[in-house]
Amino acid sequence: MNAVRLLEYGGQLVFNDVPTPTIARDEILVKIKSTAVNHLDLVEASGTLRQILAIDLPWIPGHEFSGVVEQIGSDVAGWAPGAAVFGTSEKGAYAEYLAAKPAAIARKPANLSFEEAASVPVAAQTAWEGLFTHGHLEKGQTILIHGGAGAVGAYAVQLASHAGATVIATASRGDEAYLNSIGASRVIDYREAQFEKALREKVDVVFDLIGGDTQKRSFLVLKKGGHLVAATQPVSPEETARHGVSGAMMRLAPSADMLGRIARLLEEGTIRPDVATVYALQDAAEAWKDIAGNLPGVHGMSPSGPDGPRPARRRAHGKIVLRVA
Ligand SMILES: NC(=O)c1ccc[n+]([C@@H]2O[C@H](COP(=O)([O-])OP(=O)(O)OC[C@H]3O[C@@H](n4cnc5c(N)ncnc54)[C@H](OP(=O)(O)O)[C@@H]3O)[C@@H](O)[C@H]2O)c1
Repeated sequence: MNAVRLLEYGGQLVFNDVPTPTIARDEILVKIKSTAVNHLDLVEASGTLRQILAIDLPWIPGHEFSGVVEQIGSDVAGWAPGAAVFGTSEKGAYAEYLAAKPAAIARKPANLSFEEAASVPVAAQTAWEGLFTHGHLEKGQTILIHGGAGAVGAYAVQLASHAGATVIATASRGDEAYLNSIGASRVIDYREAQFEKALREKVDVVFDLIGGDTQKRSFLVLKKGGHLVAATQPVSPEETARHGVSGAMMRLAPSADMLGRIARLLEEGTIRPDVATVYALQDAAEAWKDIAGNLPGVHGMSPSGPDGPRPARRRAHGKIVLRVA
């Protein structure tokens, strides 16, 4: 099969022929239609965090996909060849075939294209877990979402709004109308205003998709007993104790059940996906260049630092998708 691979840390992506994976008894062979690019792919490939994000070289990147079930392992129940699916995988999805675990896939929403479906699993499940598993968000509460116009943030805004919360988001000024259209009641321009000064009332939950100084200042806007959920860097236990809040850095733990619930919300039109750009699989290196300048505090690795000066948005909302077949 054709696949994109990284041969050495920090090296170029190469597109060539590799053996098609064989499946274990508890796996499903998926013929991939589309996959999506995540910041994590680039961080893993750089090798900068290899102590905690180790990869086996040569390595096929890609943590999410959409496709069609091709073959079923003998221990797998509930799936049949031909089913359209989407999901996450520990194994690389920048390829024509993938051996996937049933515990991390769900039926593709019928109203979504394969390109749209591939853009959903990581961002939407990160948002879901951030809000509900770690943030314990409830109807009637107020949440502040940092980076609300990004891929994860847009799902967080939609899911929080659907759950009956009041949603405040930080973003660039140009994203205000977009964020209002998906459920934010207030948008604070992070380039122009300090959110802790702009906010009159404290919030129940902060979902921090930025880190750095943004995270530090977030303690000032949380109610006592509130929750700070971070997606990019650990939360200081000293600061959480000092402010009487809980704080945790989340790491996505995908599940078929959660993805299935997200699929239903997508199918009924309650939430929607956004695809910024579609590249062909063999142009993955171009897609990486597209995202590389837009890494807001990926575990503190942004070239300009998490809150440093950044160029204005260069691309449309949503994920960068790679079309495989
Ligand atoms: N822990 C986990 O399990 C997990 C899972 C998925 C993702 N993540 C991480 O979550 C982060 C967000 O991912 P993503 O895919 O949503 O990124 P993304 O699509 O690139 O979005 C980032 C957004 O943040 C905005 N932004 C940048 N600096 C900001 C600031 N200081 N204040 C407010 N907004 C700011 C950007 O706006 P402009 O472009 O207008 O500046 C952009 O809209 C990444 O660091 C990613 O690695 C973690």
